[in-house]
Amino acid sequence: MAETGDTAPLRIGVAGLGNVGATLVRILQKDGDILARKLGRRLVVTAVAARSRSRDRGIDTADITWFDDPVALAKSDGIDLFVELIGGEDGPALASVKAALELGRPVVTANKALLARHGVALARVAEESGAQLGFEAAVAGGIPVIKTLREGLGSARIARVYGIMNGTCNYILTRMGNEGISFAECLKDAQALGYAEADPSFDVEGYDTAHKLAILASLCFGCEIAPDEILVEGITGITQADIKVAADLGYRIKLLGIAQRSPEGIEQRVHPTLVPRSSAIAGVDGVLNAIALETDHVHELLLAGPGAGGPPTASSVLSDILDIARGTRVPPLGVPSHELTPYRRAPMRAHEGGYYIRLNAKDVPGALAAIASRMGESGISLESVIQRPDLQVTAEEGGGAGTRTVILLTHSTFEAVVRETIARIAGDGFTVGEPQLIRIEAL
Ligand SMILES: NC(=O)c1ccc[n+]([C@@H]2O[C@H](COP(=O)([O-])OP(=O)(O)OC[C@H]3O[C@@H](n4cnc5c(N)ncnc54)[C@H](OP(=O)(O)O)[C@@H]3O)[C@@H](O)[C@H]2O)c1
Repeated sequence: MAETGDTAPLRIGVAGLGNVGATLVRILQKDGDILARKLGRRLVVTAVAARSRSRDRGIDTADITWFDDPVALAKSDGIDLFVELIGGEDGPALASVKAALELGRPVVTANKALLARHGVALARVAEESGAQLGFEAAVAGGIPVIKTLREGLGSARIARVYGIMNGTCNYILTRMGNEGISFAECLKDAQALGYAEADPSFDVEGYDTAHKLAILASLCFGCEIAPDEILVEGITGITQADIKVAADLGYRIKLLGIAQRSPEGIEQRVHPTLVPRSSAIAGVDGVLNAIALETDHVHELLLAGPGAGGPPTASSVLSDILDIARGTRVPPLGVPSHELTPYRRAPMRAHEGGYYIRLNAKDVPGALAAIASRMGESGISLESVIQRPDLQVTAEEGGGAGTRTVILLTHSTFEAVVRETIARIAGDGFTVGEPQLIRIEAL
């Protein structure tokens, strides 16, 4: 790494000039003077890498060296700081970030997939070489939650973190609630507006939220990052019946990522959740994200804002660059990586809470009584049993001909008891297909 001194320009190499990368370069070029006044030194983009040289990205590349290979850029003597905005958990993103860190060169990335999969290993490389690793933009785009956890709440003991971390899902659930339209219709609109990818499965099946949750859980609980230990359920099965019943009973449905300590370990889960309408998170709508942190002294802190998009995400990338330019030093995962505890998963079957259960009951005499009797045998206390013509789930949404939609709301019980009871009900032959189960979160 070149000797920069405190006031020499900081030479930045940016790999990836897409939505976030090109926006970052534009901001650095446009706001150069303002940033130089703040920092007492200039931030200069000296090199970039992307696939297509000819694409117009709205940036001035006259004095910028072009690299076809992001790894060659990461190792180049012409930069002091490497920014990775390519994406993907392996491939050129991993290779280039690793190469820069091994040389002791600071790295900033917005790549949640990379961090979720290789965050601990990369933190070790960074600590060994003395490099800084910033990833503010990897969780909830423009919301400064990583800095809040690493620094603002650095001394706090965190009991639970939960939040809306995927704008696509929140947009779909919000429109389903406000306009009474189906999941499929909302998804189509989200794609047309550019809020959802052509293949939306990573978002709507909850995996994007899981990557972010795994990173947050490590920062909150000082444990290793464990994305494969997360219970992940998406929103593809949510119907208008679910949205309507939730509203009637004073709830809203949100896709939450939740991580909490329990005596048996750490529970990490991503699933559609019934949240009380009066809770702050219930009011976070559209493409916005929000993350709630429950701590010992501050009680609850809610951070809400744009979780994606070029400018908000580039702003978080820039905040990491500013920290590095100022010489701020923080362990990437909040504590030195050798202090991270191995991840201990709390068994989901021990999870306790209320449940919303939607079943397709065969339209035959005795079906409802048999279901209620199985619930009673298991000691599950029911808050409501709902069967109304306007809540009938359509065949398109998974409801079968000759079935009636039955919705049960339970008082607090255990996941294992609910699962076993649903299996017994299915064994009785009075229901068809898979039930939709939505956990109720006490907030
Ligand atoms: N977009 C958001 O709102 C958002 C929010 C939070 C975090 N992030 C994260 O930010 C990162 C970038 O996202 P994005 O939306 O900006 O992605 P994007 O628009 O798809 O841009 C990716 C860039 O990487 C370049 N690239 C791909 N493969 C390459 C290779 N082998 N060598 C060199 N360059 C390569 C592409 O080059 P070409 O342009 O030539 O194809 C493109 O410029 C991802 O990790 C993403 O998860 C994005």
